[in-house]
Amino acid sequence: MKIAVVGATGLVGGVMIQVLEEMLPGIDRLIPAASERSIGKKVLFNGNEIPVVTVQEAVEEKPEIALFSAGAVTSRQWAPEFAKAGTTVIDNSSAWRMEEHVPLIVPEINAGLLTRDHKIIANPNCSTIQLVMALAPLHARFGIRRMVVSTYQSVTGTGMKALQQMMNERNGITGEMAYKHPIDLNLFPHGGDFMPDGYTSEEVKLVNETRKILNDPSILVTATVVRVPVKGGHSEAVNVEFNQPFETDEVRDLLNQTDGIIVQDDTAAFLYPMPLTAEGRNEVFVGRIRRDNTLPNTLNMWIVSDNLRKGAATNAVQIAGYLIRHHLV
Ligand code: A2P
Repeated sequence: MKIAVVGATGLVGGVMIQVLEEMLPGIDRLIPAASERSIGKKVLFNGNEIPVVTVQEAVEEKPEIALFSAGAVTSRQWAPEFAKAGTTVIDNSSAWRMEEHVPLIVPEINAGLLTRDHKIIANPNCSTIQLVMALAPLHARFGIRRMVVSTYQSVTGTGMKALQQMMNERNGITGEMAYKHPIDLNLFPHGGDFMPDGYTSEEVKLVNETRKILNDPSILVTATVVRVPVKGGHSEAVNVEFNQPFETDEVRDLLNQTDGIIVQDDTAAFLYPMPLTAEGRNEVFVGRIRRDNTLPNTLNMWIVSDNLRKGAATNAVQIAGYLIRHHLV
């Protein structure tokens, strides 16, 4: 089994390589690819130093699977080349997510959609993955009518340059800006690009991707994306209105029984999910589960996950694992 990682020198690419080591010990060869700028660099995989190659060279190796995290432009250009060579692409960018023929997969929810014919598979946006992980079991039981999502997204969600900007600001160094504004000691209600209607592209992703993964276009979603000076781990305050009545203990039980979810909800012990405690973990953490007393059948909760792991690399590697186990590559 040969697996390529396109974007191997980036933040998500690095974690992909780490998670591949942890979760898929049967890989014989890793092919790390990045831009021409990185030729000559090496990455560490299972104790071996492996030279970074160009994307063209990685295509020519005909790996069974290519994990992509090198931005939407690179994905648009190169995913079809891998597919033509017989490689199954699992793409972490937004390039293919909303294409009708491309499955948008969170393995715990909808891996059953995958077939051998899917040569391009999309990994959802980081904020969407942790949201639908917590919502899918509740949707199945109570039916979601509408939800209001406010995110508190860390800088690693933007990539290496954004992390560098925050660390520079923290250390009093003037350097390249990944954002329009300072991020340290600050936050801003802006993720991605602004649309004519005033929403941002990150907010639109949360709406559309949630409906596609939960396979229900009737779900109403409205979102505000906020970037916060946190290194790793996205948080979300979610207000969700169900069609059916619920008990909060039932919600906790359902979430406790869901693979990949950990409920941290003991206010007496000040236990609730936080980015610091979620960092480095593959699960999605849910807490502050409580009824919204202003509306019937409505719940408030707080969801946190490591955006580089379950929000990106872990989810992609889990998809790869599923394809391998089910002989789909
Ligand atoms: P490189 O390091 O050579 O620029 P991040 O989002 O953390 O900044 O990472 C982006 C990743 O995508 C890096 O590995 C980067 O490689 C890679 N990348 C960016 N542009 C291209 C490109 N045109 N072709 C291949 N890889 C690219």
